[in-house]
Amino acid sequence: MDGNGRWAKKRFLPRFFGHKAGADSLVRLIKVCQQRGVEYLTVFAFSSENWKRPEDEVSGLMGLVLVSVAKYLARLAGDNVRIVIVGDRDTVPERLRQAWADAEGRTRANTGLTLTVAFNYGGRWDVVQACRKLVREGLAPEQVDEAALARSMAMAHAPDPDLFIRTGGEMRISNFLLWQSAYAEFVFTDCLWPDFGPAELDAALAAYARRERRFGDVAPAQASRIAR
Ligand code: FPP
Repeated sequence: MDGNGRWAKKRFLPRFFGHKAGADSLVRLIKVCQQRGVEYLTVFAFSSENWKRPEDEVSGLMGLVLVSVAKYLARLAGDNVRIVIVGDRDTVPERLRQAWADAEGRTRANTGLTLTVAFNYGGRWDVVQACRKLVREGLAPEQVDEAALARSMAMAHAPDPDLFIRTGGEMRISNFLLWQSAYAEFVFTDCLWPDFGPAELDAALAAYARRERRFGDVAPAQASRIAR
């Protein structure tokens, strides 16, 4: 969800207002995703590296999450959204841990869209914590395979992403879903996150629909030539 800071700057507002507009944009987009039949939506809200930001921005983001949970949880729960948080909870404030536990607990039985919020998350952190789990379980080296790692990862509750969207114009993945996005289709857009609405989502879905997914196989045109 990149571009909140620039969105605010364009309006001569402090960065926090960009994040606030970003949170509202997320809630609007969840509804649109449900209407489009999206079953899993995973958003990057705070990376393992975001602690490097100025202290007031970090505490502003933590506060915004608390306020957003209080403001939107009942509505999301009523809309049958299941909320899952992934990331290192050990180093986030206790109040936030409680808010996450509350959000997860109240929506656990929901069967609609699964909203995964990656908070204090990093793709590399996830690989490392999965390896640690396997070591703790006492797996022998030959028992460590892709399936064992995948089931130990924080994202084990969700299938690998089909579509990976980055807003804000940067062409990198910044440590998000490193393992899971091996075969994801990527859409990079200059649109700043608070401006990312139904039209931008539909454009990304249309781009995805035009892609040919091969998962390492040959292109169908080549395959028919090989068969002949
Ligand atoms: C990146 O934009 C955005 C973030 C680091 C924060 C994203 C968080 C939210 C949208 C709030 C989420 C709230 C809930 C309830 C999950 P940036 O600040 O790097 O923007 P810039 O590149 O324009 O400076």
